[in-house]
Amino acid sequence: MLFITLVLLGFFWGFFRDCLEDAELAAVMRPKAAAVVAQGSRLVVTNFSSLPGRIQDFLYYQHCRHFPMLLDIPDKCGGADRSSEVFLLLVIKSSAANHDRRVALRKTWAKERSHNGVWIRRLFISGTMGAGFEKKRWNKFLELEQREYSDILQWDFNDSFFNLTLKQILFLEWMERNCPHVHFLLNGDDDVFANTDNMVQYLQSLKDNDGSKHLFIGHLIQNVGPIRLPWNKYYIPVQVQESDTYPPYCGGGGYLLSRYTALVIYRISQSITIHPIDDVYMGMCLAKAGLSPESHIGVQTAGIYIPSHKIDNYDPCYYREILLVHRFLPADLYLMWHRLNEPNQECFADAK
Ligand SMILES: *[C@@H]1O[C@H](CO)[C@@H](O)[C@H](O)[C@H]1NC(C)=O
Ligand SMILES: *[C@@H]1O[C@H](CO)[C@@H](O)[C@H](O)[C@H]1NC(C)=O
Ligand SMILES: *[C@@H]1O[C@H](CO)[C@@H](O)[C@H](O)[C@H]1NC(C)=O
Repeated sequence: MLFITLVLLGFFWGFFRDCLEDAELAAVMRPKAAAVVAQGSRLVVTNFSSLPGRIQDFLYYQHCRHFPMLLDIPDKCGGADRSSEVFLLLVIKSSAANHDRRVALRKTWAKERSHNGVWIRRLFISGTMGAGFEKKRWNKFLELEQREYSDILQWDFNDSFFNLTLKQILFLEWMERNCPHVHFLLNGDDDVFANTDNMVQYLQSLKDNDGSKHLFIGHLIQNVGPIRLPWNKYYIPVQVQESDTYPPYCGGGGYLLSRYTALVIYRISQSITIHPIDDVYMGMCLAKAGLSPESHIGVQTAGIYIPSHKIDNYDPCYYREILLVHRFLPADLYLMWHRLNEPNQECFADAK
């Protein structure tokens, strides 16, 4: 027992120390702006103190990939061996405060069910919010939700925009352990409308519909690079990425991928430095693995364009063929899901 405890302590100390050293190093950098420091093979950080706080935070913790789990559901897929019975696993990024979105999703497109003879399962992935008592309250809140729905994975890190890549990697690690044989995954935000029935039908229609081949589809973004304007949400200074280009990637609002591709990304991510923008990072992993993301017309992460003011933007006829649209308020989601599932809808194509 003592031996095991010592081994475990050594293990935890190993990675915490690794992260701490980076944090200390960055702290040393604060007063000494405009310096370049080489530590081992790492070269950090010019003008550290002039960077926005969130970038500084990111640089502090960039090398930390291990955070304890606060909420877990190891048997979500029926155990690793039986996880091949899950056809589509919905993996939805959701921070604790977005309760109303989770409520709507559970009743609509993210309902756990069997469709066309195959199983759909749901997971929300989350970090922590706030600090001190506030953090405790939010953790308790998620714990209560978990008791009722058993659909939340939570890790003990600050659930901020620039930690989304970390969330993604931690999820993939979890998946390799607990659901390694699921066929496909939808990875997305909690404010999208996803037609999961259509997704299942689309995935079933593929030649390789067991998830054993490469698949990564969504809203393809190409020929772009880091935004260098400090006030922009997506600002990436040269200290984070020097190169002016991003590899092709799919917008993070929602993309579909196979188990094969998810596991390839996870394994290769261990040798790729974390980039704070999660969808870009997925593109980097794909590029390094020699795989390409692809475009699917049914994924509209920038919303769908309806050419006239005289037409209701939320007319279900526009959404019958769609796979995923960004972004929807909970009430709009609820209405759309139910209208799409009403029998005998009349749409323009039918009327003609
Ligand atoms: C660092 O700051 C100096 C002085 O403000 C500036 O000239 C230089 O371009 C900055 N370097 C980087 C990499 O931002
Ligand atoms: C979490 O991150 C956000 C955004 O970077 C920041 O404003 C907030 O202070 C952080 N919270 C904690 C407890 O570190
Ligand atoms: C990521 O989470 C860690 C652990 O909570 C936190 O210290 C760090 O500030 C977060 N990073 C960002 C960029 O918010």
